[in-house]
Order: sequence, then structure tokens, then C-alpha cells
Amino acid sequence: MKHNNIDSKPIKLGIVGLGRAFMLMLPTFLKDERIHLVGAAERNNQQLADFLEQFPESTIGSIDALCADENIDAIYVATPHEMHCDQVIKILSADKHVLVEKPITINAVEAKTIADAVLKSKGSVIVGPSHSYDLPIIETAKILRSGKYGPIGMINAQYYTDFVYRPRRPEELDTTLGGGAIFNQGAHHADILLALIDAKALSVSACVGNFDPNRPCDGAYSALVEFDNNCFANMTYSGYGHYDGDQDMAWISELGVPKNPDAYGVARKNLQHKNEDIERIEKSNKGYQKGYTLPQATYNEHFGRIIISCQKADLRPTATGIHIYADDKHEFISLPQLEVPRSTVIDELYQLVHYGKSPIHSAERALNTISICEAIHQSSKDKKRIELSY
Ligand SMILES: NC(=O)c1ccc[n+]([C@@H]2O[C@H](COP(=O)([O-])OP(=O)(O)OC[C@H]3O[C@@H](n4cnc5c(N)ncnc54)[C@H](O)[C@@H]3O)[C@@H](O)[C@H]2O)c1
Repeated sequence: MKHNNIDSKPIKLGIVGLGRAFMLMLPTFLKDERIHLVGAAERNNQQLADFLEQFPESTIGSIDALCADENIDAIYVATPHEMHCDQVIKILSADKHVLVEKPITINAVEAKTIADAVLKSKGSVIVGPSHSYDLPIIETAKILRSGKYGPIGMINAQYYTDFVYRPRRPEELDTTLGGGAIFNQGAHHADILLALIDAKALSVSACVGNFDPNRPCDGAYSALVEFDNNCFANMTYSGYGHYDGDQDMAWISELGVPKNPDAYGVARKNLQHKNEDIERIEKSNKGYQKGYTLPQATYNEHFGRIIISCQKADLRPTATGIHIYADDKHEFISLPQLEVPRSTVIDELYQLVHYGKSPIHSAERALNTISICEAIHQSSKDKKRIELSY
């Protein structure tokens, strides 16, 4: 597909981890002509063989092989997050750019290690995709920055999903390994708040819910975050598959696909009577497989209901545009679906690789994000407000 933003050669991209996250990015990589896939590292040999068949010129094997390949400009790290720190440091040591999946790491200490490593490398780090790359969030942030509606005071962000009952690797539900809703989903929420508020988070007061004894994990949270520009925000999430937050979004799913409201409780039902091994296989089957395609998005992606209160208006991004409830009138600014899904991630990567432009979703920014997630966990555990230090 043509992209009017291409004025230099494509980015030659290597991949580490051909799992679910890679599958979600594959439509972008295939449609965006600024990307050529030229290498992959993965533990599953069948997936590697399939990759080589689809992209025959590729370097295949280990992360070291990708780092040593002079043809590769940047590497997308889509492995479980407990591996991100070591892998990103290795790639930075080879002076290559990294696009690493959210969350950057499983704690702030590791994120700081990466942020420091960026300063010593010719490569840099972009963290994404997260839902702060969604077009309605980017466009809302532009309106907020314009100052037209005065300073932002408060954000209320909430999303109800079936996160807890989707097929998982055991680590994905273990908070100490960055599992559960706080690190997996709170990373989206926190990053959206940072994108909209454009200030550092100062403190977090939070509670975390672990509601299903048959599926023990941190599956829900509610956090009050204060920022250094007098803004405050609530981020609330439940992954327990009862109320569906997509109802608030006109039955458009998180991935921008129309959703059938009658398919109530499907994730919980599908998971019943499955042991850990079967669940692991089901999770793995959601990764890269020859011929497997995702349902096509027909709207922008989203992360549930978000209402931003400014001095002179409330703003509400949706999957199709932005509601503005101003002093004198309510208007809706309609937004097109991105021609290439998630191309906003490639915009940032392209600017970094070809023009050396510092990324917005930098390691430094991700340190803020992960610090908020860590503080949610800590605040709930210690039953007190956590002051953030970076
Ligand atoms: N942004 C999003 O929409 C999104 C969606 C899903 C997952 N994620 C993120 O992506 C990351 C991966 O999650 P996932 O759901 O894709 O997991 P996954 O288990 O589906 O995929 C991980 C892949 O990494 C491979 N792998 C493990 N160790 C490896 C190694 N040392 N070298 C090479 N490959 C290795 C595994 O074999 C597997 O194929 C996580 O950080 C998660 O938070 C992001």
C-alpha cells in the first residue's frame, strides 16, 4: 500500500518473538511500505520455518544473529516482558534501534537501565504499540495542546474487558513477572494519561482486585494519579468478563472490529475445564501461523471510555472521533480509520531510523509508565499513597 509519508528507503526490520503481539503487528508490517521484514528470532522452529517461507531473504535464528546483521536497521522485541530488559540491552549494545512491546520491562529499575543504555548507544528505543498511538488519542492530545479549552484538570479512564479469561501463559497472570491487569493493561492506561496530560506523574493511590479464586491474579485496579501540572486522573480496569466496556464504545472492540453484543461471556465459557497445558497451547495458537489472519479492523482501536475535563470543555475520544462538550455547544469531530492500522507506530520508528528524531514513546517516557504501574501494586499492598521518584 502506498504511503504518502515515504521519502527514504524502507526500514529493514528484524523480529524477536513471533507470538500474539507479532500477529497483531503483522497486518501493519505487510501493508506499510516503509517496513521490510528481513529477520526473525524465535524459539518455535515451525514458526521460524513459516517466517522464512513468507520472507525468504531473511536472517533466521538467534537475537545475536539479528544484531550481527548489518542489513538490519531496527529490531522489534515482542517476547514476554520479563525478557525485554536483557534483550533490549543486547540490541542497543549492537547500536541498533529497538521497537519493544509494552510494558517496557517488569519494573522501574529495569526501565531505568534501558533508559541509561540508550544514552550510550547509537540506537534508541521506542516502546509500543500501546493505545496512546490510537489516532483519536493523538488527535485529542493535539486539541488539548492547542489550549483552546483551557488547562486540563481531570481525566476519568475506565475499561471493562474479559482479560482474565483469555488463554494465557502462567507468567501472564503472575504480578511478580509483570503479569495481571496492572502491568499488561495499566501500561496502556498510564501511557494514555501521559500522552494526554503531558506531565510527569507525582503520586499514585490505588487498590487492586483479585476477585476470582479459581483464577487468582491481579485482575482489576482503580488508581488515582496526580501529575506535576495540578492534573489528576483516575484509571479503573476490570478484566473479569462481566460488564463489557465495548458497550460504551458503540460495540466496537479494542482492536477496532465490530463486536456482537450477544456473544456474552464467551471468554469465560471457552476457558472452562481447560488445564494449564491446553491453555498454553491455545495461547501459542494465537501466535504466528501460516495462513492465519486476524479479523479485519474497520474502526480505530481504543481503550475504553476516557473523559478529559478541561476548564472550558469535556472531551471524549471514541473509535470514530472526538466528542467535545464545550461551554456553548456539543460537537463531534469525525476521524477516519487509519489507512494502515497502527501506522502511527511506524511514523515514529521511521522518523527515528531515517532522521534521528527522538521518539515520543521513549524509554524515558516508558519509565514513567512502568513507575505508575509499579506504584499501583505497591499502593494497594501497603495501603498508602506512593510518591514517585524516577
Ligand atoms: N501491544 C499489544 O497490542 C500487545 C498485545 C499482546 C501482547 N503484547 C506484548 O507483547 C509481548 C509478548 O506477548 P505475547 O502475548 O505476544 O506473548 P506470546 O507468548 O504470544 O509470544 C511470545 C513469543 O516470544 C517467543 N520467545 C520466547 N523467548 C524467546 C527468545 N529468547 N527468543 C526469541 N523468541 C522468544 C515465544 O516462543 C513466543 O512465540 C508482551 O510484552 C506483551 O505485553 C502487546
